[in-house]
Amino acid sequence: MQRLKVAVLGAGGLVAQRLQQRLSSHPWFSLEAVAGSPRFEGMAFADVPWTLDEDRPAFPSMQVLDVLSHETPKRLRSSGVRVAFSALPSEQAIDIEPRWAEAGIVVFSNASAYRGATGIPLVVPEINGKELANTGGGPLLHACATNCTLLPLALPLAALNEAFGLIAFTMRSEQGLSGGGHAYMQKAIADGRVDPDIPGEAEKIGQEFDMVLDWTGSRVIDCARVMRKDGHQVFVTATFERPFDPEEARHALQRWSDNNRFNNLPSSPHQPLMLVDCVDAGVHLFADGKGYPGNPNPAVDLDAGMAIVVGNLESPEPMVLQFQALSHNTIRGAAGGLIFLAELALHMDLIEPN
Ligand SMILES: NC(=O)c1ccc[n+]([C@@H]2O[C@H](COP(=O)([O-])OP(=O)(O)OC[C@H]3O[C@@H](n4cnc5c(N)ncnc54)[C@H](OP(=O)(O)O)[C@@H]3O)[C@@H](O)[C@H]2O)c1
Repeated sequence: MQRLKVAVLGAGGLVAQRLQQRLSSHPWFSLEAVAGSPRFEGMAFADVPWTLDEDRPAFPSMQVLDVLSHETPKRLRSSGVRVAFSALPSEQAIDIEPRWAEAGIVVFSNASAYRGATGIPLVVPEINGKELANTGGGPLLHACATNCTLLPLALPLAALNEAFGLIAFTMRSEQGLSGGGHAYMQKAIADGRVDPDIPGEAEKIGQEFDMVLDWTGSRVIDCARVMRKDGHQVFVTATFERPFDPEEARHALQRWSDNNRFNNLPSSPHQPLMLVDCVDAGVHLFADGKGYPGNPNPAVDLDAGMAIVVGNLESPEPMVLQFQALSHNTIRGAAGGLIFLAELALHMDLIEPN
């Protein structure tokens, strides 16, 4: 199969570089262009400061294009680029992403600007993957991945909702520094402290949870930033319509995971949910659905960091379950999840090769 030509919107950001990394030897996508803000426009790709721990991928002849220019998407479309992965801040995504979509390039976005907008699917593949086709009639031109903290919350609760009927939940999060972007993370590390507040985060998670699960109920969400580089961990107490014990909950989670996996997509984890006794962010960060690699290479180990780890299951009452869950925020919660979405769209024949 000929690889589809793609571009990344964002040159030097954490998510932009995770995207570049994961696209550097992707079996279905070929990275043809990186379009950046004025700080990097015109610079050789090799000279853009590299922010990730792993080696920079080599694109020797690539120069950073101007993401703000109206001409860039038109030019790339005529040279065969079919998909753009956006790692833009929401304020910029509002104007820029529609320009790329209007040029005929299918935009997959990690920004929050168009989450929930009419005709722009907001999708977690295992939960509501079919929604990718729900574009309001026309072809798929724009789709969004969710907030990164939604993943460790929504995947286990989707499973438990299906088995026992979710009535209400409370969630508290501990979110890694990389969730705030590169400059934020560098400053917190240099200062040796972090402000736990994440303005607007709880509201976003609540709204996106309802949309993705098509659910209404009572929820209380409280989000905090913590002094850890990567990984978002959630602590959940949920109430259900039917009684069950933790062993039945464990079976329901495993059954859902078995039934909702995509083993034919390059970024899909072998199992979306991995059950453990106790969640440990130091050990489980790169869960791939089969195991917990300690030092994977995300450029080729596309499933590493793509599974959600669930543990610490307890039932204080027959219809109440407490659990913890962990997800890698810049992989499953951002770049990996976004490329997974595009793989699913291609698999569903929603993107014509050219
Ligand atoms: N970090 C996460 O875990 C995570 C998870 C889910 C979603 N997201 C979302 O992903 C997006 C990127 O987050 P990040 O963590 O990568 O942030 P970041 O490390 O701070 O990077 C910011 C990105 O925004 C671009 N940018 C900044 N100012 C711009 C401007 N004026 N015009 C055009 N582009 C501009 C930068 O492009 P240049 O490098 O070209 O300057 C860079 O790629 C945000 O919308 C964020 O909410 C992040």
